Amino acid sequence: TDPTLAQDVVAGMRDIPDFPIHGVVFKDFTPILLDHELRDRIVADTVARQRGRVDVVAGIEARGFIIGAVIAHELGVGFVPVRKEGKLPSAVHSVSYALEYGTATLEIHQDAVSNGERVLVVDDVLATGGTLAATCELVESCGASVASIELVLEIGALEGRAKLAGYEVHSVVTI
Ligand code: PRP
Repeated sequence: TDPTLAQDVVAGMRDIPDFPIHGVVFKDFTPILLDHELRDRIVADTVARQRGRVDVVAGIEARGFIIGAVIAHELGVGFVPVRKEGKLPSAVHSVSYALEYGTATLEIHQDAVSNGERVLVVDDVLATGGTLAATCELVESCGASVASIELVLEIGALEGRAKLAGYEVHSVVTI
């Protein structure tokens, strides 16, 4: 265990007011990526919980790619990108959902994960939960199951967890 990890993550995140639109305070994760020691502690925390439990990691565009790929490397499993609409070249499943700001569509390659595989879904931030709920739906549309969800930061006041009832959700820190 890493007793100061949560407070160090909070200190490492940067609040950017009015991004991407007026009234939204954006949680900027880039200082954590730059701090390799803190980043490695986040990855180690997740890997300790998930080792041996999952067959593949699905990372959500864009910051879930970065942290998810490192976690997949450490777990010794494959990585699947869940991307914004129109980016994946082969046949996809698509799900549209409401964001904190606007709407979005996410896609997964239909053959990215197979029937019965246990998938670890990774992203940086859980806000309203729409992105993660859509991703779980995509994983399940491939016939795989969501074994667990790992986030770096959860914004408790937005109640994203309510959209993820029935899933195992871990956040390094909840604010
Ligand atoms: C952010 C964040 C999550 C999502 C969480 O991504 O990285 O993926 O929002 O929000 P939700 O819980 O309300 O759905 P963003 O929309 O900024 O996209 P980006 O990573 O491509 O910049």
